[in-house]
Amino acid sequence: MNLSELKKNIKTSIVGRDILYFDELESTNSYLYESALENDYKDGTVLISDSQSKGKGRLKRTWISPKGANLYMSLLLRPGIKPEHASIFTFLASCALKDTFDHYGVDCEIKWPNDILVENKKIAGVLTELRYSANKVKYIIIGIGVNINMSRDFIRKSMSSIHGKVTSMECELGASVERELFSAELINNIERFYLKFLNHGNKAILSDWTKRWHSKGKKIEVRDGNKIYKGVADSVDENGFLYIRNANGDLVKVVTGDIIF
Ligand code: BTN
Repeated sequence: MNLSELKKNIKTSIVGRDILYFDELESTNSYLYESALENDYKDGTVLISDSQSKGKGRLKRTWISPKGANLYMSLLLRPGIKPEHASIFTFLASCALKDTFDHYGVDCEIKWPNDILVENKKIAGVLTELRYSANKVKYIIIGIGVNINMSRDFIRKSMSSIHGKVTSMECELGASVERELFSAELINNIERFYLKFLNHGNKAILSDWTKRWHSKGKKIEVRDGNKIYKGVADSVDENGFLYIRNANGDLVKVVTGDIIF
């Protein structure tokens, strides 16, 4: 990635003021999470790697991270909140992603808790991790992976087991996208929501997320291990829990899981 091209297009005062860049890392999230113990990174520090050898997804899944094609980015924030409220940052990142895809005319859907899909195919994901002590967050790492210029052929060959469930900007638009411009747009959007969070709190972010939430009011099924929850997607609370209204009319709380449809 061309760093000066990226920096030229970032118009922020907090997010992305400091950018760390690597050609290859195991995982941008793991690197930032560990190295922040010894480095006094500023609020809003961004780390980008051109490839990852051990990219991490949610629920211990692997995030396939080929060189030169996509965006693998982690962001360090120091928002001064309690650990149980950290999932608001997954929602914040999803809002920024949705608005960025909209800007490119790619119509994506946000699925709880962290999936960004186009016609049920994954185009981006968010992995939020936090370090805390004494019930206070020291820092939050928001990891964002976006499939930008991965070709349909590459997806078919290197993700054979899941290839029908993965897409990229290039697949959707039929043309490659300048990663620097996409990344700058995303960083600018993250800053917009982060400033909103700092000024108006997590309720404002939750409300923005709910407006963009694809499943709201729709019938869904969520799998959590062996348990399956069925019902109509109702709401999400400040702790990131999902509420489904089941056939009996009861609101059922779902702590974790994957939406099956
Ligand atoms: C998911 O949908 O399961 C979350 C995927 C998150 C992937 C990104 S890529 C950059 C950052 N570093 C990682 O190791 N993971 C996140």
